[in-house]
Amino acid sequence: MSQVFIAPSILSADFSRLGQEVAEVESGGADWLHVDVMDGHFVPNLTFGPLVMEAIAPLTQLPLDVHLMIERPEQYIPAFAAAGAHVITVHAEACVHLHRVLHLIKEQGAKAGVAINPATPVSAIREVLEDVDLVLVMTVNPGFGGQAFIPATLRKIRELDELRAQYGYNYRIEVDGGIAAPTAPLVVEAGADVLVAGNAVFGRSDRRAAMEEIRTSLGR
Ligand code: DX5
Ligand code: ZN
Repeated sequence: MSQVFIAPSILSADFSRLGQEVAEVESGGADWLHVDVMDGHFVPNLTFGPLVMEAIAPLTQLPLDVHLMIERPEQYIPAFAAAGAHVITVHAEACVHLHRVLHLIKEQGAKAGVAINPATPVSAIREVLEDVDLVLVMTVNPGFGGQAFIPATLRKIRELDELRAQYGYNYRIEVDGGIAAPTAPLVVEAGADVLVAGNAVFGRSDRRAAMEEIRTSLGR
């Protein structure tokens, strides 16, 4: 079983003190930093772009895990790669030429991830599984932090875990939305190995304790 990473999502951080927020989760034991980029079109919310990422990147050693919830992500991939992204994840639903976009991410020197919304089946990304470093299973409908976990997504995590074992694929399985101590064991048992947590980490004043609680729930 691979090591389970915790990736706090800065969507739930206090943006007026973003530098300190990032430092707190880094010293508190985070593995990756999850960066939610929203365009007000693909999802009904707006966040930030490469400029904010450029400001964060020099402040942390944590790998930056960039989740693009935007239309036409290919237009912005070079800018996010240049801003220091470790992984760039695009939504299958936002890409007409998904294979091309994933290879563009790799050409820009980042790891390539593909995300699927709760209503999108694994079959929609079956033909690119050999090309990706990460598959992000949305466990809520994207757009906002603090929503309730959707249990029906568990069977897609299992399916991706089985395909990975059967064909020897190398992707990590990331889950995003409603992850906290009660839901973390369910997704990890199903095969997830990167846990995004927004509200569960930044909603608590002691971020280290919040992450430890998630790890303890996993029994490891
Ligand atoms: C939702 C974002 C998530 C969000 C998760 O659209 O992609 O990364 O920050 O927040 P929580 O963990 O609060 O559900
Ligand atoms: Zn996200």
